Amino acid sequence: MAIQQIGNRVFGLQTKNTSYVIGVEPNGLLETLYWGKKIENLEDFQEYTAEDHKVPNLFGPQVIPEECSSFGGLRYHDTSMKVVFADGTGDFRYRVEKVLQDGEHLEIVLKDTFYPFAVHLHYEVFPENDIIKKWRVAENLGETPVELESFYSGEYSLPGNDYQTWNFNSRWGAEFRGHSDPIRAGKKVYESLYGLTGHNANPFFLVHKDAGETFGDVYYGALEYSGNFKTVIEAVNSEYLNILIGISDTDFSWSLQPGESFETPAVYSGYSDQGFEKMSQTLHRFCLEKLMPSYMAEKPLPVLYNSWYATTFDVRVKDQIALAENAAKMGVELFVIDDGWFDGRNDDTAALGDWYVDLSKFPNGLSELITAVKNLGMKFGIWIEPEMTNKKSKLYAAHPDWIYRYDNREVLMGRNQYELDMSNPEVVEYLIDIFDKLLTENDIDYIKWDMNRYAAEVGSRNRDSSEWKEIWFRNTQGVYRLIRELRKLHPHVEFEACASGGGRVDYGAMRYFDEYWPSDNSDPLDRLYMQENYSFFYPIKYMRSWLTDDFGMDNRSVPLQFAMYTAMCGSLGIGTNLNETSEEKKEIIKDYVDVYKRIREVVQFGDLYRLKSFTRDEIHAVQYVKNERSVVFVFLDHEQYGKKYYCLTLRGLDQDKNYRIRMNGSEQVKNGGYLMNKGIYVELKGDYDSLLMELEEV
Ligand code: DGJ
Repeated sequence: MAIQQIGNRVFGLQTKNTSYVIGVEPNGLLETLYWGKKIENLEDFQEYTAEDHKVPNLFGPQVIPEECSSFGGLRYHDTSMKVVFADGTGDFRYRVEKVLQDGEHLEIVLKDTFYPFAVHLHYEVFPENDIIKKWRVAENLGETPVELESFYSGEYSLPGNDYQTWNFNSRWGAEFRGHSDPIRAGKKVYESLYGLTGHNANPFFLVHKDAGETFGDVYYGALEYSGNFKTVIEAVNSEYLNILIGISDTDFSWSLQPGESFETPAVYSGYSDQGFEKMSQTLHRFCLEKLMPSYMAEKPLPVLYNSWYATTFDVRVKDQIALAENAAKMGVELFVIDDGWFDGRNDDTAALGDWYVDLSKFPNGLSELITAVKNLGMKFGIWIEPEMTNKKSKLYAAHPDWIYRYDNREVLMGRNQYELDMSNPEVVEYLIDIFDKLLTENDIDYIKWDMNRYAAEVGSRNRDSSEWKEIWFRNTQGVYRLIRELRKLHPHVEFEACASGGGRVDYGAMRYFDEYWPSDNSDPLDRLYMQENYSFFYPIKYMRSWLTDDFGMDNRSVPLQFAMYTAMCGSLGIGTNLNETSEEKKEIIKDYVDVYKRIREVVQFGDLYRLKSFTRDEIHAVQYVKNERSVVFVFLDHEQYGKKYYCLTLRGLDQDKNYRIRMNGSEQVKNGGYLMNKGIYVELKGDYDSLLMELEEV
């Protein structure tokens, strides 16, 4: 049973390998009793109470790891909610009103002891996936408004204070730079105030005890949200680590009117007793099976060509058709035109919002290119940036009130553009119509949905200034509504989430998009680092990865194979200027595309093993395993001390089976047990060498 009740005060959430236990204390507080490796028999928790903590000279909620700590009372750490009632009372004192269980869903209702106000704690257990979903609903049952000044999605606590946290410290062009930091005192906050997820940190928590890829305790949770988020990891009184994750409370406040409810985004959490690898595999599988939109869920992503790096804003029908002809010859399955196709868009200073084709670039409309692409046997995709407008645009001229602004402040630009007020339903309705028309009138199979600025001056002409602290959340809801409606109207369109590269990579976007564009930096070496950290929480299938000409931003020149293999570690795309690529190089790229098509089922849907990493090893190697097949990519950035042979011990194979191994044009057969224990030697030499190994059970 996924949800067990032990006595009348203890509830156990059981997955295949983990247990999460909650108890109602004699004083009425809801305590997190345990989270970790599975305990089959939870009977002993019946007797357990907070008294057992025996903390000298401390009492009350401060020392009780709570499921829903609320600001006020005898609590002095960051709490998971703050509510202010109409008379100014600023704390929530509850008793457990009722507990409802329906299959794998548990709901604990906390009711205030005086005010007509309730908080519903929801839990859904995914036993086979080893994942527990948490979310909350606040309900105003009274006659006067209630202010929610903070309301996180979930709270977690772990005993002791000997942990490390991991998250990103990144920016555009350098996404997913991971850092592990000890947390023994004070608190660690990872937050976005960008208006969307942003590039700096990511909406998840990861807490571990000196874990590595294959060993150690790891506790994690990912938030299903693409707006301002906050994760607080706090060491409390040397007793326990308290973890909060949810909507950021900075500049947030929500006025809950009589009879209204507020639901938080969900957080998906889990525990691994075998390090980061098991965590990633658990999350990847869960994302593929339970979160991603159904349209592409079981299909591999097509090999894509995107003309952005080749032509940037100079998107002209003749050149695009020439690129499409080249792309088709190389086995590309989806041809995409990026920014620059719409009226007046010649650089980044104008035209966002004017979503009709530029007839000076496409004299016969988009259909000429679309027909050519379809006749070449490919799907057709196009770039849009729905949430934005430029000062120089027909949209802004017609609706200057549709952007975020403060009346007496200059509206600051980001990439020369303004952000549309997506908290205004009229704006969202307008965008639904415009893009519905674009997708109805044109045979479009794929949308790259971009977003290229951070928020500022978040004031709205559409609502009273007393409600402006709600805008951040309402904006994200507006974005979700737009994509939800478009998907409903056009269920056979594939959507990619991009926000200046990886600014919207999160579990909220995953609900609505089929893939992410993780970074505009396509330098293969940088990418290997980024891809590794990306893969901690996010599935490989979602990770678009392209071959480009100058390899991005590091002025590095690497062999084609190294670049190609890096791109083939994810969902392959090509962004080179094929109109200027030699026939010989195109032939070689085509061969790699053929290989990719042969292995992509394993790469996109298999279990990932990060065998070696440039962050700690001489070589970098990733392995994918799906049923009887496995694929391994190995990279060397520079040879040192004449060393040319490296031993790779593989993982995830069946030790009783034999495998045919194809590598560097030769074949051999080895036993799974041998490959996973003794290992296999690979030869790599010089600078930027790489190899691909394919294995199949015999
Ligand atoms: C930023 C994206 O990250 C790029 O890939 C490209 O689509 C440009 N925007 C287009 O303006």
